[in-house]
Amino acid sequence: MPTIKINGRDLEYEPGETVIQVAHRNGIDVAHYCYHPSMSPEGNCRICMVEVEGWPKPVVSCKQLCGENMAVQTESELAQSARAGTMEMLLVNHPLDCPICDQAGECHLQEYSYELGHGESRSTTPKTHLPKNVPFGEEIVYDAERCIKCTLCVRFCNEITKTGELAMANRSDNEQVVMTSKGEFTTNYSMNIVDLCPVGALTSRDFRFKSRLWFMDFTPSLCTGCARGCNVTIGGRGGRFMRMEPRENQDVNQWWMCDPGRLGYGHVNSETRLATPAVRDANGQWQPATFEQAIVAASAALKDARESHDVLLDGGATLEELEAARALASAMGGQARFAAATGDDADEFLIVNEKGANAKGAEMLGLERQADAAPAAVLVVERDGNVPAALRDGAGAVVAFVTDATNVPDSVRVAFPYGSWAERSGLLVNVDGRVQELRAARQVGPGNLSPAFALMEELTGELDGNHVPRDRGELVAAVKNEKAFAEVAFPAGVAAGQTVGAGS
Ligand code: SF4
Ligand code: SF4
Ligand code: FES
Repeated sequence: MPTIKINGRDLEYEPGETVIQVAHRNGIDVAHYCYHPSMSPEGNCRICMVEVEGWPKPVVSCKQLCGENMAVQTESELAQSARAGTMEMLLVNHPLDCPICDQAGECHLQEYSYELGHGESRSTTPKTHLPKNVPFGEEIVYDAERCIKCTLCVRFCNEITKTGELAMANRSDNEQVVMTSKGEFTTNYSMNIVDLCPVGALTSRDFRFKSRLWFMDFTPSLCTGCARGCNVTIGGRGGRFMRMEPRENQDVNQWWMCDPGRLGYGHVNSETRLATPAVRDANGQWQPATFEQAIVAASAALKDARESHDVLLDGGATLEELEAARALASAMGGQARFAAATGDDADEFLIVNEKGANAKGAEMLGLERQADAAPAAVLVVERDGNVPAALRDGAGAVVAFVTDATNVPDSVRVAFPYGSWAERSGLLVNVDGRVQELRAARQVGPGNLSPAFALMEELTGELDGNHVPRDRGELVAAVKNEKAFAEVAFPAGVAAGQTVGAGS
């Protein structure tokens, strides 16, 4: 392998690699706005300039190919002054918007301005005024004054989705992004341009002005909108789900996620969430109960159950929950099944028709998929889409684990609150058979949710005196022992008994 020297370190490169690629791969930070590893380099923002020893001028590292014996300095006086000059140019027309800009706290212009820029402006000419609050489709708002013309959003629509909804228009300080497609996106992935935009020029209508970044907490987890299992970061604040953004995983979703997945969290913040266990009294009225009282009432209801001894689970239930449900069903003399929605919106990118986030895991554990109404003594329901009213109400269940109180059928005697995907930790198997970890996001949803798998294990212990309730690690170990999982890799860190995040 040929080598290049960066900041005195000899680093190998593949022919065709650029200086910034080799620097980033080796943990050397090089400022950048218009560069993204997934797209062709344009070299238009000039912030990534570095010095090549012996060369008269600094070069843009995102376009400069590596060469044998090239010696690069990213922090020399020449490189630093080149970047400072670029910053000064970028800020000539940029509005002093940080106090009201939604990007503040995660804005690369703000960060580099602080690190590299001048403290004061030398420009005395008035700033150029350009359109603000321009709708780009239904979910995105464009502010042309904040735009630094990096063209990442345009290239995303041209090179990644190949739908071409955006273009650069005009020249010089009037240059701006425009929609070429009558104001609508045809792609299901438009909101990735909000994540890509290095400044606050593109904001999400769903999230803008909801919260300052520094008041939020962030949890790495998974989207459960379909069985792709895109890796995401959940942002929450004070018990509320605020937003979801894609997290890079080259084996699953690269850097992206779809718009329906990103916006499909309505049930998490629902006003009708079931927050505590509830037991019906002799008059059929719901009474709040402690988890201990509810367990006693639920085991009595299950011992009395006549219609069925089965458990019907949502196709998004975790492996731990499925394993606990199998034991519960077995203690009742029945079996566990699952239900999951299927769509017709699959594309060749990320979205798949299978909407059960763990349908594959359920099938690998031998659970049958239920399509029509059938009796079940226990229901586990998170999404209406997976367990629609016909299946839910047609089960005649006496015990239910539900995310939303409106999903409790009339037949149910004892209802347990069930965490949404944003409040549960556990393992899911995606459509390609990859086991990934769903992590409960701290401060999201009603607090004090007892994990459903633990409650089911306790119930099993009540019904079968020989059953010793298992913890999460033991449930995972039981799944690993299944033949279908013999060759499957599990995520590192899911050790015996380990739980991750609040409410897990
Ligand atoms: S809107 Fe953002 S991503 Fe698009 S060109 Fe402007 S700065 Fe770049
Ligand atoms: S492709 Fe599926 S898993 Fe990925 S973001 Fe969309 S709905 Fe979520
Ligand atoms: S990141 Fe290299 S020129 Fe913009």
